Amino acid sequence: MSALLKIEGLSKVYDDDSAELAVIDNLNMTVEQGEFLCILGPSGCGKTTLLRCIAGFERCTGRILVNGEQITGPGTDRIMVFQDFNQLFPWLTVEKNIQFGLKRQGIRDREQLARITADVLKKVRMHGYGRHYPYQLSGGMKQRVAIARALALKPSIILMDEPFAALDAITRNTLQQEVLAISREENCTFIFITHNIQEGIVLGTRLMLMEPGGRIAIDIRNPIARPVSPSSPGYGALWDRLYAALYDTQRGNPV
Ligand SMILES: Nc1ncnc2c1ncn2[C@@H]1O[C@H](COP(=O)(O)OP(=O)(O)O)[C@@H](O)[C@H]1O
Ligand SMILES: [Mg+2]
Repeated sequence: MSALLKIEGLSKVYDDDSAELAVIDNLNMTVEQGEFLCILGPSGCGKTTLLRCIAGFERCTGRILVNGEQITGPGTDRIMVFQDFNQLFPWLTVEKNIQFGLKRQGIRDREQLARITADVLKKVRMHGYGRHYPYQLSGGMKQRVAIARALALKPSIILMDEPFAALDAITRNTLQQEVLAISREENCTFIFITHNIQEGIVLGTRLMLMEPGGRIAIDIRNPIARPVSPSSPGYGALWDRLYAALYDTQRGNPV
């Protein structure tokens, strides 16, 4: 069986008028259906660029295949959730935010729209907030709605670019647990970028460490049984290994 996501010889060069910057150079990787892949790496190593290439937002060379088909641009099979709390349309209510993409997919039936909206809001524990506007929500609530909006489209892959990085520690832990629950219930694959080693170990079934130049320094299956906590056997050793490798990749680079 072919992989859900296959990346072959991916290279990305940002080509401004003044300079060329090769961010990803000949990257090859595959992601299987149902994996929860967490990607760690120092700032500027190309994590967001990789996610944007998979989302179809960037011009790049090489091939990206989803279910065996080469992608040519954005699609609702790959939905991105960003770090920024302002990713929702501020002029639309929560439910209209969720329904925006569904309507663009051609779903017009009001009952069907309402049913899908209620279902995904329940999944992120935001039922009852459909008529709120984004400005009436906390940062954590906005991220929940962004996840609900992604789930509504039933993507094959949810691409998350440090979605919890700007949250306080307690909200972050709560949302981690909720995303874990969602990943168990949904037939969906996650690629999740984080700077936070704990977050990677708690969420990931697979952990990758990216180095500057977009190279993959570590690519391992998470050996720790779920639910993961700092007292889980092996947690400390894995954390130490990732910590050392993460700081190793930064050596010599200004921070
Ligand atoms: N649109 C762009 N134009 C030019 N350079 C960019 C652009 N986006 C990112 N970069 C550069 O590409 C490198 C990788 O960036 P990024 O993928 O955002 O890294 P990360 O997400 O790992 O922090 C950085 O050096 C960054 O400055
Ligand atoms: Mg980034």
